[in-house]
Amino acid sequence: MTTSFYKDFEGKLLEWYAEHGRDLPWRQTNDPYKIWISEVMLQQTQVDRVRDYYRRFLERFPDVSSLANADWEDVLEQWRGLGYYRRARSLHGAAKVIVNELDGVFPQEFDVLVKLPGIGDYTAGAICDFAFGQDVAAIDTNVEQVFGHVYRKVWEDLNRSEKKAFLERHISDGNGAVFHHALMDVGTALKAGESCPFHHESCKGIEIRRRKPIKKVSKDAIAVVAGLLIHEGKVLIARRRLWDSNGGKWEFPGGKVESGEDRRAALKREMMEELGVEVSVRPPFHRLEVEFGGNFYDATFHRCSLLLGDPQPLASEEIDWITADEFEQYDFLEGNKVLFPILREKKGMWRV
Ligand code: ADE
Repeated sequence: MTTSFYKDFEGKLLEWYAEHGRDLPWRQTNDPYKIWISEVMLQQTQVDRVRDYYRRFLERFPDVSSLANADWEDVLEQWRGLGYYRRARSLHGAAKVIVNELDGVFPQEFDVLVKLPGIGDYTAGAICDFAFGQDVAAIDTNVEQVFGHVYRKVWEDLNRSEKKAFLERHISDGNGAVFHHALMDVGTALKAGESCPFHHESCKGIEIRRRKPIKKVSKDAIAVVAGLLIHEGKVLIARRRLWDSNGGKWEFPGGKVESGEDRRAALKREMMEELGVEVSVRPPFHRLEVEFGGNFYDATFHRCSLLLGDPQPLASEEIDWITADEFEQYDFLEGNKVLFPILREKKGMWRV
């Protein structure tokens, strides 16, 4: 974890958890076997239904060798009523692999865990966090719910491995278990319609309003474009003139699209007018609706490359070239801050 942006998220999350977190039986242990059993049971079953099954199953099969050596009929007997019986088959099969092929030692490595029958990305991550104190992303529907709610399109636009990397940035060293427990509980609370513990800092703070239906955007929102002019691993930022609205704030350069103008052409024009450079403009990598001073802006963000010239602050107080690690050192427009996590994840964008 690198920045205050992520620290705020973690701080709010853990604060909420300290007050509202649930006391669940599988949170009293760091035995990987018990955690595994709980996570498999919880895959398709509600917490309240799992409690009794979990307790009875562990009474009957207290460790991995007792499960591996059991008859399938006995395993099935303990599972009866929970449904999705393939889960029980996989548990039994994986227990045999651990006992017969791994000397009965529960593996600690994500890459080994994920190859066992019935253990997918989420369950392997959960075992790493809850049993072995690792800080590995474990993304289930609860986690999707929370990150989707807080980061909206930023989150939706990430692929699976980008989501994992993005989530892991939020975890302070050694906090993987409590962080994920808290996410489970916030996710459950959100699904039940409770209010979001991040409401003020993250949801409101970045001043993004996604209105429904989205079709309305094109009717009355003002089309704006902004450019990420990246050169030798740094992006160009500009400081707004002091007498303009939000004077003195830093932003990614750009401006309004004129009527009938193509967005990419508009950005090419703005870059020439504001910086005196010829650039090439790529299709947008991000689009969002931002509310600002009572108006809605439909903004697209584009990666740009320098073709000709040396950028000058023709329409700004000053310009600077910075790396992705330096964003928080500049006082940015609120509406631009949502891009920071995206830009950090999209590493390919910084090359060339
Ligand atoms: N759902 C999946 N895993 C869970 C856990 N460890 N605690 C609560 N709900 C869960």
